[in-house]
Amino acid sequence: MNGLLVLLIIVVLAILYWWLIISTEGVFLGRRMVVWLYDITAHKYDDIKEYTPEDEKILVVDPILALCQQTETALLDVGTGTGRVPYFLLQDGRFQGDIIALDASAKMLAHAEESLALHSPTHGVTLLHQDAVPLPFEDGRFDMVTSLETLEFLPDHKAALREMVRVLRPGGILLTTRRADWEAPLFLNRYHSKNGMIALLRAMGMIDVTVQPWLTTYNLVIARKPISVPQYSR
Ligand SMILES: C[S@@+](CC[C@H](N)C(=O)[O-])C[C@H]1O[C@@H](n2cnc3c(N)ncnc32)[C@H](O)[C@@H]1O
Repeated sequence: MNGLLVLLIIVVLAILYWWLIISTEGVFLGRRMVVWLYDITAHKYDDIKEYTPEDEKILVVDPILALCQQTETALLDVGTGTGRVPYFLLQDGRFQGDIIALDASAKMLAHAEESLALHSPTHGVTLLHQDAVPLPFEDGRFDMVTSLETLEFLPDHKAALREMVRVLRPGGILLTTRRADWEAPLFLNRYHSKNGMIALLRAMGMIDVTVQPWLTTYNLVIARKPISVPQYSR
């Protein structure tokens, strides 16, 4: 009987560990835990993700270029990690504009700096060690805000989205992701169905909101800030 109880406790603890650390990457244990987990795994992040220029052209570069409404685009990447968005945009060479890429993990940013410097020593991308909330930029500063595979790991994803919307200029584009795999509902209040995501962004005043297939784990979410800005809910 005692043996069975011990086994049960071990199984419950193993499930809790898997849910809290592996699956949801520490998000229910607080911001510090998330950032620490990214700090200690930063050195193997790119190997785990196995980004290739061919895939990233289709997944990241082409959608961004298709949405750029002007040649000189001011782009903010929130939760840039090892610099996926700036790195592949620079490598492709067609993007013209300024990129500010921020992340709360210093180690992830160090890897971003390293790969950007290798690719182009005078890359002109500004990397910021900075939280997603609040964003240290004035209203309407950016033509485009990207935030890929990041929302569900933020302490308050709704506050983060509101900040992204705030710093977009009227007519600017938000490009983000919605977790869509079988583990997505394990993020509890951070999980949104497709319609839920559309409703959330519309409630923040965004228009032309679409949720498209992207990866097996994520949908791509695109939205536009209207030229005349309605009052969005805070
Ligand atoms: C799954 S990674 C995605 C990285 C990158 N966007 C990509 O697609 O490869 C999530 C990123 O969010 C960052 N992050 C977590 N909490 C954050 C916060 N509060 N503020 C800013 N970035 C945060 C992590 O450090 C990590 O680099």
